Amino acid sequence: MLAANRPFSFVLFGASGHLAKIKIFPALYFLALKKRLPADYSIVGYARTAMTDGQFRKHVADAVKEYVLEVNEKVLSSMLEHVFYQPGQYDAVEDFKKLATKLETLEGSAKDVVRLAYLSIPPTAFESTLRNICAGGVNEEHHDFRCIVEKPVGHDLSSFEEINAVLLSCFKPSEVYILDHYLGKEAVRNAYYLRHANPVIERLLKNTLISSVQITASESAGLEGRAGYFDAVGTLRDMFQSHLIQIAALLTMRLVNDTNEIKTTRLDAVKKFYLPPATDFSEIVMQGQYGEGVSGGKNVVAYKDEEGVVKGSRTPTFAALHLMSRSSRWEGVPFFLRSGKRLKEKETRIAVEFQDSPTLVGKEGTRNRLDIILQGEAGMKLFLQTKLGGSEPKFRPLVMEDPLVCMGDCLVEHSLLLLEAINGNQQWFLDAEEVRSCWRIIDPVQKYLDSKKAPLSLYASGSKGPAEADAFIAKFGHAWL
Ligand code: BG6
Repeated sequence: MLAANRPFSFVLFGASGHLAKIKIFPALYFLALKKRLPADYSIVGYARTAMTDGQFRKHVADAVKEYVLEVNEKVLSSMLEHVFYQPGQYDAVEDFKKLATKLETLEGSAKDVVRLAYLSIPPTAFESTLRNICAGGVNEEHHDFRCIVEKPVGHDLSSFEEINAVLLSCFKPSEVYILDHYLGKEAVRNAYYLRHANPVIERLLKNTLISSVQITASESAGLEGRAGYFDAVGTLRDMFQSHLIQIAALLTMRLVNDTNEIKTTRLDAVKKFYLPPATDFSEIVMQGQYGEGVSGGKNVVAYKDEEGVVKGSRTPTFAALHLMSRSSRWEGVPFFLRSGKRLKEKETRIAVEFQDSPTLVGKEGTRNRLDIILQGEAGMKLFLQTKLGGSEPKFRPLVMEDPLVCMGDCLVEHSLLLLEAINGNQQWFLDAEEVRSCWRIIDPVQKYLDSKKAPLSLYASGSKGPAEADAFIAKFGHAWL
C-alpha cells in the first residue's frame, strides 16, 4: 500500500484559490483518512489573503465538507492540527523569509523532512514566486525539495522556456515536478496498463488494423468561476496541450517492464505526434464556443455573458484537432482529439475504430471498435458483429463490455500524485522536454485559432457540440464515434 515514506512540509501557494479548495484539500484529507500520512507533517497555506491559522483551518474544513461526500470529523480535526497559514505577497522576499522561518519552527528536530512547494497560483505570479522561494530560503540546502507546478506551464513554447529557465536557475531538474492531474487518474494510467497486461489487445493496436483513433474529453461543466484563468487560455491550451496528448501517448507508447522507464518512453511517444501537412490550418483544427442553453436541468448563459469573460471574447470552449504519429506501429492512423465545456455529458473516451472486414464489403454491419472509457461510466467495450439467422449472411452488433472500476488501493489523482511526489517518484510527472514537445504541437495551431481568420462555431450549452465538428471529421471520411 502506497504511503508517504518520510516526514514532509507541504507549502501550498495560492491556498485561498479554487484548485486548492476543490482538489488539494480533499486530496490531503483522503490521504489522512486512508492513513497514508506520516506522524510528522505540516501543511502550510500561503496566499495574499490575511488569515490566522485558525481561520485557514476553517477554510480547509469547509472545503473538505463541501467537496467530499461523507467526512469523518475525527480524521478531519486531527489533520487540521497539522495545518498552518502564512499570509504573504508573491513578490515580497521578506514574506518568503517568514515562511522559511515558520517551516523551520514546525519541523523542529524532525529528521529527513522533504519540503514540497505546490504552485496553485495565476501564471502572472509564477516567476516572482519561484524566485522568492529560493531567495527567501524556502528550499534550503539541507532539505530534499520538490517544486510542483500544474499544467499548462506557460502560454506557449517561448513563455514555457522563460519559466523553465527560472525553475532551473533555482532548482535541479530532479526537484521539478510538473503535474498533469490526468496522469494521476487510475483509469488514465490503465489505458497503458490494459495494453501491458493483455497481449491480445496490444496486438490489435496497430496501423494495419486500425482506421482511426478518437479521444474525446467532454465536460458538462462550464467555467466554474474560473473565467480569469480560462478566458486567457482556451480549450486547446487547457485540455489538449497536456491531458489529451498524454492520453494519446499512453495508448501508443512502447510497453516497458521497468516502471522507471515509463517517463522516457512516454516522452518518446509524445515526440512522435505531429500535425499532418495541410494547405490551411482549418483542415486540421476547428474551434467552438458555447452559447446559452440547458445544462444540468438549468438554463445557463452563453460563454460570452459569463461573469469575468472579456467582452467579445473569441476564446474557444470547444476544439477538435487532427494529429498523426510517426511511431512505426501507428504510422498512417489519424488521431482525432476533441474536447469541450458545457456539453451534454461528462465523459473521457478513447475510441479505436478498426478497418472494415475485407470480405464483408458492401454488407450491412458496423465496424469493429474498441472503446476505453476513462471517465463517466468508465468501462471497456469491444464492438463485434454476429450473424443473424438465415441463409444470407447478415449481421448484428455484439457488444462485449465490462465496467472498469478501480479496485484495490485506489486513490484520487491528486492524492496519488502527492504521495508519489513526497516519495520522490517522478515517473508520472512531466519533465521539461515533454512539456516542450506538447507546446511544439499546440503552438502553430493556437496561433491560427488566435487569428481573426479562424472561424468560431457556436453551439448550444448542453448539446453535443458544434455541427461544424461533424463536418470537420467527415472531410476525412470518418464520423465521431
Ligand atoms: C483541468 C482544466 O486541467 O482539467 C479544467 O484546467 C478542466 O478546465 C479539468 O475542467 C478537467 O478535469 P477532470 O478531472 O474533471 O476531468
